[in-house]
Amino acid sequence: MTDISAAPSSAKTPEFSAAPWPAVRKALEIIGWLVVAVLLYTGLSSVFGRADFLITSFAQPIADPRATFNAFDVRYYEHFLATWLHLGPALLIFTIGPMQFIPAVRKKWINLHRWSGRVFIACGVIGATSGFFIGALYPFMGLEGQGFNQSMATVVIAGYTLLCLYKAYSSIRRKQFGAHREWMIRAWTIMLAIATQRIMLGVLMSTTGVGIEILFGMTFWMAGLLNVTIGEIWISLTRTPGNGARHWKYLDAKAASNKE
Ligand code: HEM
Repeated sequence: MTDISAAPSSAKTPEFSAAPWPAVRKALEIIGWLVVAVLLYTGLSSVFGRADFLITSFAQPIADPRATFNAFDVRYYEHFLATWLHLGPALLIFTIGPMQFIPAVRKKWINLHRWSGRVFIACGVIGATSGFFIGALYPFMGLEGQGFNQSMATVVIAGYTLLCLYKAYSSIRRKQFGAHREWMIRAWTIMLAIATQRIMLGVLMSTTGVGIEILFGMTFWMAGLLNVTIGEIWISLTRTPGNGARHWKYLDAKAASNKE
């Protein structure tokens, strides 16, 4: 039988960071924040655009909404409560989110991080549930054909968002800092996929001539997969040993000063 206690000690191997990776991490962090800025801009623009649609639509009496709006927009009008319950949390998620990932904020104002984290999770749950309601139950092409595709993409993305938020919360309750960080990165990247999808949709619609009825569901899957993959690569590049409480930046800085 193999005695795992006799396995070679890992003390001799560096506990974190192979030689070239600190530079890669640094570069990827900068690129990552730039990409996040573009996604935030895209997501927030669509939040304000849709809020403007609701406000202007309800400012006038509309006798027959189905004759007035197209199949895509009319659902937001008819399910205005679910839409507001989506847009409000979405706005908070995209404004609080970046702050949660800044180490200096956590270091200086840990109570702020805790309370804004609770708001973030609550908004994520409401946002995913209302998104599920609109997109899974009322896809704009109905529940058949491509509409079913959109519906299923929404079920998976909403379900995965809820799972990530639950795991992020339960791990921090058990003081598993590394797991909490990883599940929050997963929650954040899957929610940013909503903005990735908007960009993909715009680019593919204008370059391929394929219609929104095919591209909407397809880009939902594509954006989800892309963001999840990028999130997992970042997590594996920055995972630290133990319970993960020591941040990769701290370990990289320590390794650099030991070399000098
Ligand atoms: C938490 C996970 C989320 C899920 C599962 C989700 C899902 C959805 C779905 C299915 C729709 C309806 C699409 C349609 O058929 O028209 C929708 C609409 C929308 N979502 Fe989300 N969403 C989520 C989070 C977010 C976040 C974080 C934002 C932040 C920007 C956001 C912004 C919007 C906006 C602005 C709309 C209106 C779309 C438009 O007018 O084009 N969502 N969402």
